[in-house]
Amino acid sequence: MENELKVPIVMLEDYLKYNQQLYYVWEPSKVPHMAVIGGTGSGKSYFCKMLVGKLCLYAPQAELMICDFKGDDSLSWLTSHPIWFYRYTDCIEIGLETFYSRFLDRQSGNDKSRHPLILYFDELAAAVNFYDKKEAELLRKKIANLLMLGRSFNVFLILVMQRPDAAYLPARENVGLVIALNNQTVESKEMFFHSFKDEMLPDRKRGTGYMLESGAKLHKVVVPTVSNMDKLHQTILDTMLLQAARRSETKLGGLGDTMAQ
Ligand SMILES: Nc1ncnc2c1ncn2[C@@H]1O[C@H](COP(=O)(O)OP(=O)(O)OP(=O)(O)O)[C@@H](O)[C@H]1O
Ligand SMILES: [Mg+2]
Repeated sequence: MENELKVPIVMLEDYLKYNQQLYYVWEPSKVPHMAVIGGTGSGKSYFCKMLVGKLCLYAPQAELMICDFKGDDSLSWLTSHPIWFYRYTDCIEIGLETFYSRFLDRQSGNDKSRHPLILYFDELAAAVNFYDKKEAELLRKKIANLLMLGRSFNVFLILVMQRPDAAYLPARENVGLVIALNNQTVESKEMFFHSFKDEMLPDRKRGTGYMLESGAKLHKVVVPTVSNMDKLHQTILDTMLLQAARRSETKLGGLGDTMAQ
């Protein structure tokens, strides 16, 4: 079905030693939402850029929003285009607002479309921390609602943070896939990998890690290397421009398609 998403995302390390590149294929309708965790420099944003590229290739019919709270150079080539790309406080004030209203449109029945709506939010913890208590609580509520109710409407989140904490990641039991890059702290293992923490060896490095699927299956994973970064950037930009053009043709208009500075 056109709305069903199946995306190969990471290589399974156990097969690499037999020279087999077997990918784990993510099916958000079965394993909804993803959290990507790991200390600074562990390769979270690199992995997510590769993932966004795959989503563009495998699901061009989807609508993808990128919120990059830190706003470093890794995605700066997306600025100055009228697409769903936001940095700093625009992530919350325009990005999340727009995305949440699209979810509410589906929930209220105003929008009957069901192509995947995907929000990739990098540095969520830093964003929650930035706001004062009342605003942060509202932000957490929206994230929690999207995590709890999104799947039925084909609405999915990819949330990235250095350190998982209930304060930053509400409703974490609704996150189907957790990818932990590099070695994890005791607290991170405790929070997401409790039953598996003794199996997790401290031999991970940048671009490798553990993946927990539906709280039940632990996999050792390796992030594939991007062979042509310029091509990846072009694919992402072209696809997001197409998605924005489609939005401007529908009654939803170009909702939220601003140019990040
Ligand atoms: N799998 C990989 N293969 C090759 N280079 C990588 C890989 N993962 C990360 N890198 C490189 O390592 C550096 C750090 O990666 P990245 O910015 O993705 O880390 P991060 O976890 O997002 O860190 P931060 O939390 O500080 O944002 C970057 O220069 C990136 O290009
Ligand atoms: Mg990063």
